[in-house]
Amino acid sequence: MTAVPRVSTSPMTAESPSPSARIAASGDGSRAPVGIFDSGLGGLSVLRAVRAQLPGEALIYVADSLYAPYGERDDDFIADRTLAIGQWLASQGAKALVVACNTATAQSIALVREKLAIPLVGVEPGIKPAALQSKTRVAGVLATQVTLRSARFQGLLERYAADCRFLCQPGHGLVQAVERCDVGSAELRALLRSYLQPMLDAGADTLVLGCTHYPFLDAAIRDIVGDRLMLIDTSVAIARQLERVLDQHGLRAAPESAAAVLPRFYSTSDGTHQQQLAATLLQIDAAVDQVVIPSRRTAAPDSQAA
Ligand code: DGL
Repeated sequence: MTAVPRVSTSPMTAESPSPSARIAASGDGSRAPVGIFDSGLGGLSVLRAVRAQLPGEALIYVADSLYAPYGERDDDFIADRTLAIGQWLASQGAKALVVACNTATAQSIALVREKLAIPLVGVEPGIKPAALQSKTRVAGVLATQVTLRSARFQGLLERYAADCRFLCQPGHGLVQAVERCDVGSAELRALLRSYLQPMLDAGADTLVLGCTHYPFLDAAIRDIVGDRLMLIDTSVAIARQLERVLDQHGLRAAPESAAAVLPRFYSTSDGTHQQQLAATLLQIDAAVDQVVIPSRRTAAPDSQAA
């Protein structure tokens, strides 16, 4: 890790052209970037899969790390930030948006879909593949508290769990660990063990990683569970879904168009950890620009409070 994150502010302005106008102005929508957003660094696991699946796409990534973790925020706060960041990415010319955050998807995808003029892809815990693959019919789910209590998640269980028993465990502390680039300390391993051992004891053979931060903990999880749990990470499925959505809208870039271009990284925090994680776990050495993205809730004086 070499360069220091660059700091600049680019609040969205009322004069920003509409997304469709910008894409049209570029003359070729397929060359516009795809926006990817998460509460923090977790969405980089989705960005990794998107780069592998769609190497021709230019990408803009926003980490809302100043306000992470969303899993401990109220519903209105999450919807407010998701909408503001979606609008900001559209104002930067994004032709499509990946909400690479289970918590934000669970809470606000319907609202954002209604308000944004670009195609949207959300993420959700892999209950369906887990229910299809579990042999013991017992599966664990690690996700944020907000995701687990959402109507959307409960709907997934109703639709796909069938005869499979899902042990749902809020991953308190895990997002914070990844946000400080801790993917393997003794404390983190002890925390993970406290979540995973009861699943093993109950006979689980499958673990749904229901938060995009958690794939970065796969090595630590493997050290604890060995091959007793099959890990379900939906990032590749999300990348394939993005590919389908881009095709449907005639927005897919030619495979070679952005192959050598690094993603544009933004953070609402100082970006140091984002740069570090991207360099060490994704082998992407790119600068991170700090950005101010105002929203209704964060404009208030007590904006740091959930
Ligand atoms: N990566 C986000 C998710 O998938 C983490 C949410 C949070 O910040 O708590 O849910």
